[in-house]
Amino acid sequence: MPTIKEILNTMEYGPAPESQKEAQAWLEQHGRTFGLFIDNAWSEPGELFASTNPADASKLADLTQATGSDIDRAVEAARRAQPGWQAMGGHGRAKVMYALARLLQKHSRLFAVLETLDNGKTIRETRDVDLPLAARHFYYHAGWAQLQAEEFADYRAVGVVGQIVPWNFPLLMLSWKIAPAMAAGNTIVFKPAEFTSLTAMLFAELCVQAGVPAGVVNIVTGDGRVGEAIVKHPGIDKLAFTGSTEVGRMIRIATAGSGKKLSLELGGKSPFIVFEDADLDAAVEGLVDSIWFNQGQVCCAGSRLLVAESVEKKFLAKLRARMDTLTLGSPLDKSIDIGALVDPVQQQRITELVESARAEGCEVYQPQCDIPASGSWFRPTLITGASTSAAVAQAEIFGPVLVAMSFRTPPEAVQLANNTVYGLAACVWTENISLALDVAPQIKAGVVWINTANQFDAACGFGGYRESGFGREGGREGMYEYMTALSEDARPAAPLVEPKAKPKAAPAGGSPFAVDRTAKLYIGGKQARPDGAYTRAIHGADGTFIGEVGEGNRKDVRNAVEAAHKAGGWAKATSHNRAQVLYYIAENLAARGEEFAARIAAMTGSKNAEKEVQASIERLFYYAAWADKYDGLAHQPPMHGITVALNEPVGVIGIVCPNEAPLLGFISLVAPAIALGNRVVVVPSEAHPLSATDLYQVFDTSDLPGGVVNIVTGSADELARTLATHSDIDAMWRHDGSAEGCAEVERLSAASLKRTWVGGAKGRDWYSTAQAGGRAVLAHASQVKNVWIPYGV
Ligand code: NAI
Repeated sequence: MPTIKEILNTMEYGPAPESQKEAQAWLEQHGRTFGLFIDNAWSEPGELFASTNPADASKLADLTQATGSDIDRAVEAARRAQPGWQAMGGHGRAKVMYALARLLQKHSRLFAVLETLDNGKTIRETRDVDLPLAARHFYYHAGWAQLQAEEFADYRAVGVVGQIVPWNFPLLMLSWKIAPAMAAGNTIVFKPAEFTSLTAMLFAELCVQAGVPAGVVNIVTGDGRVGEAIVKHPGIDKLAFTGSTEVGRMIRIATAGSGKKLSLELGGKSPFIVFEDADLDAAVEGLVDSIWFNQGQVCCAGSRLLVAESVEKKFLAKLRARMDTLTLGSPLDKSIDIGALVDPVQQQRITELVESARAEGCEVYQPQCDIPASGSWFRPTLITGASTSAAVAQAEIFGPVLVAMSFRTPPEAVQLANNTVYGLAACVWTENISLALDVAPQIKAGVVWINTANQFDAACGFGGYRESGFGREGGREGMYEYMTALSEDARPAAPLVEPKAKPKAAPAGGSPFAVDRTAKLYIGGKQARPDGAYTRAIHGADGTFIGEVGEGNRKDVRNAVEAAHKAGGWAKATSHNRAQVLYYIAENLAARGEEFAARIAAMTGSKNAEKEVQASIERLFYYAAWADKYDGLAHQPPMHGITVALNEPVGVIGIVCPNEAPLLGFISLVAPAIALGNRVVVVPSEAHPLSATDLYQVFDTSDLPGGVVNIVTGSADELARTLATHSDIDAMWRHDGSAEGCAEVERLSAASLKRTWVGGAKGRDWYSTAQAGGRAVLAHASQVKNVWIPYGV
């Protein structure tokens, strides 16, 4: 007797088209022409561009290419509206957002059909995924608006935010961007992608119906030039971008030094790991959702299959059989699995990449399903035999193309998974929970799905590691992206650096002991001579020569970064252990407190040297206390299971320390970083480095493993430049009051998309826990990874 599965496999589905009547009527109602939505009013249409249906190449409507003065108007409207929107209070905003959520649900069918027409994705997906998730985002964030005063009492809205999204999830990305921004009290200038603006136009209508005050949400359409105008507009306080890594990088460079807050959600090449003991049939279904969902035009698509060698053949056979059943065709047909690509340009890009793999000798498998005569289509594709460095194994294809490789051991699986510049998501399939939870933290990605794929929820943050960008969308962590800590507003206008007296020369001829006064660098737990063999003289506040430090160079930084990477075990040490080391450093510093105070007084002339040492000891206690208390969260999304949000270390952080409070500033930056498991390469105060070099012995006697803290003295500008361009540094902090230096760090960090935390020209009261402590600092020292763990049978 045939099994149910076999019967299902032989069943043919007839076409079940969803009606497009209402969506077409809505377009007609607008004369198939749209202006811009600014200040709750539609502008007259300007220079037009067409939006087409990629499934049949028919034209749907004309949209306006916004000009520079349109962007000015939109930003001005947003600026005018912001104080009023803020003043409505959490409950006032929550009511408006709740109304938006209700309206999205009420009109969900119209939205779903319009999205399918405009984007080419199947109605099954727009109806069952995009729309419910978009509405959920507004409900969830209406809740944050309601709770804002209580839960984010120490924060305010950033102000006017610019938001730019791609075409793959037009309405969903709009919700991910607009909902948290509104909840926090910001006003918005939003740009949809030029291929897919229609659902944003429909959403604009809902804003009016929901009672969103004029100017709170402004929607401008057009291509990359409009995005660029938003990015560069001086009236924008924060930018949130989702799209290609290339444009993300340009935005990082364009905003460097502007003080604009920035979050980037960029590309991916996510691994889908199948271990030997996985439920292979379930994993095949997971893979279908992972790489053929939305034609593979998904930033977190599981585009690299890594399968255990022992089950590779069996798994690939099952996969090919499943691929043969996938249906491709009219996206409005409810029984269709794979719709149209967004545009012929994508079709061409994907074709070129697949053909390059074929030319390199890879095997390319594609089921011979029918393809409609017009429109942009691509068959589901499986590529085997590619080398790990092949273009198809490394580049984000952004199409329905899966590249498969095998591995033998779990460590090899992890190594292959991390063999990418990206770090957005990963899937792990195994029936062994212990293996899954061992592997998940080792994968460098912001989201890990265990025995599931492409799950999203507003309560669970989403975002990347490495070149997949920074910042999170959703969850509590997503709200912080749209707020500014009040303590930032309280920062002094300029650093409190005391004027230095004219330096006196070093003792002529040198004392026979002068060599002892040259502090070396501190790399891998050992004192090291600077590679260049140069030193620089350090003078006290009265100009007296008080010592020399090494002049670190590029090679020294390289050695320090290498040592920091070798000390990776620190990230795996227990938080209890890390706390003990920090307490121990504090204890050993206290034992030499007088000596440190004398040194600070000699270097800076400070009358508060003892106070600074005491504050440094307290700060070490403070971060020792946090080390084992900065826990993650367990979310309960609408799934049978949990999502665990882990606060992971960022990795290796380059730090340029302030000149004011040379000991306290150093400790206030290094302690939170190492408390959470990061390793650091630190450039101490350029003017007063000796408090840092005096710490070598304190570290040596405090059980701090070699390589966790590496210290390179010398020119802050030069060393910062080297650190910011080093591809093995994961984040870069600079707080020495140099506006230009901070801008340069942001600009140079774009190459590898490092996270940055820079203070700009403003000072910081290093004695204040509000300004130099708290969760805001810990957030800079960590990144959230959400691990989805469904359960049940
Ligand atoms: P894109 O990054 O060029 O476009 C995304 C958005 O940015 C659009 O709204 C676009 O108008 C805007 N934009 C373009 N240039 C800009 C600029 N200089 N300044 C500010 N905004 C700008 O992505 P595109 O061209 O649509 O797709 C190209 C490739 O990028 C895809 O094949 C895919 O590999 C990748 N991509 C990745 C996405 C993701 O979610 N990770 C989303 C879309 C594309």
